[in-house]
Amino acid sequence: MKILVVGTGAREHAICQALHEEADLYSIMSNQNPGIARISQFKIGSEMDIEGVKKQAINWGVDLAVIGPEAPLEHGIVDTLQEAGIPCVGPTRQAARIETDKAFMRSLFAEHKISGSLAYGVFDTAEDAGEFIDDFGEDVVIKPVGLTGGKGVKIVGEHLKDAEDAKNYVKEIIDNKIGGHASVVIEERLVGEEFTVQALVDGDNLVTMPAVQDHPHAYEGDQGPITGGMGSYSQKDGLLPFLDKKSYDASVKVMEETIKAVKKEGYPYKGVLYGQFMLCRDGPRLVEYNARFGDPEAMNVLPLLETSMVELCQDVVEGNLKQAQFKPQATVCKYLVPNGYPESGKAGQPIKVDEEKIQAEGGMVFYAAVNQKDGDILTTGSRALALVTTADTIQDAEKRCEKATNYVQGDLYHRSDVGTEKLIAKRIQHMKEIKGE
Ligand code: GLY
Repeated sequence: MKILVVGTGAREHAICQALHEEADLYSIMSNQNPGIARISQFKIGSEMDIEGVKKQAINWGVDLAVIGPEAPLEHGIVDTLQEAGIPCVGPTRQAARIETDKAFMRSLFAEHKISGSLAYGVFDTAEDAGEFIDDFGEDVVIKPVGLTGGKGVKIVGEHLKDAEDAKNYVKEIIDNKIGGHASVVIEERLVGEEFTVQALVDGDNLVTMPAVQDHPHAYEGDQGPITGGMGSYSQKDGLLPFLDKKSYDASVKVMEETIKAVKKEGYPYKGVLYGQFMLCRDGPRLVEYNARFGDPEAMNVLPLLETSMVELCQDVVEGNLKQAQFKPQATVCKYLVPNGYPESGKAGQPIKVDEEKIQAEGGMVFYAAVNQKDGDILTTGSRALALVTTADTIQDAEKRCEKATNYVQGDLYHRSDVGTEKLIAKRIQHMKEIKGE
């Protein structure tokens, strides 16, 4: 079977790694990712050149395509490939609106009475938005309606000082059409611990994966600017140290209700559904959806997959998903990123990766935003590579992962606290305080 993977980063490297032993792999990526390049026949090109991707896919005669990032989904890559007879693991443009249009996502919850919903409003004038903020009277979250590469969401009490600051940010979004629309979603601020549940979806059925916790802040102790994610961990039983089975199941129920609702609206959803939840005092509430695997969360779950990823992809497109098995192992993923990231990560810096030593430590390397050129691996400014280790416990996986970071050299930094006992104890304590225990 010939499978095309669209995308350039560590998430796509992890997807390719999960597929390559059982499929002839083809890829379209914007830089030469050394991990993807060595296991696929590839073409360097923009993932956003939808017609170009289609032509190349037809040339190669691919049987199926897996779409990594969200931006081509928003531009209808799945619709175009499907029209050309190429089935896709990825939602159509309309179905992908659960990620690409935050107003659509919230109204879906309200209209279909999906559990885990929250108070919100959608506004296209700063005056109406300001009135909502004043009347609401509590801290809110301001979100541009469209995609902003994870950089558009601002929270009162974290990124915004107070209600006045929130109103100024609303005006900035509307005036500058941040996210592509002169429109904002304002939501109640959720307090709790965030976690991710990912699932493969065939239009009706979901195959869910182990829960993961990401670390969006750049620096140790959850300090500094928000990034694409600096690292993540998962636990061997598929839950998290602060997340029990009841709450995990409640979040899966939210995702199942969403898939039913999107189908009822006329847009059956096939692909990967990423639910980002906040575990609050009264259970999990949905923060947002992504219409793709998480990055780094894909690197926690895909290496644990015991079921054939090729068969799962076929089941997604054929509407025949049943179940998937995951190794009962904990994982820790740490991202190494250029100094200065996320604001001014240095590009063009060489990095040296001793993969043999990392593998001897039981580690896996997933290359991200790097470019292989004349035998060198160069940074491009964004996250460079992710290291992943597995073990019986999160603590053991963390120690191995930390050791593996010694085998990467370059002008890079990472968060050494991801997955440590100390940080996890802080998460558990925080959750106890929220539940009043
Ligand atoms: N981990 C955040 C994301 O994938 O968007």
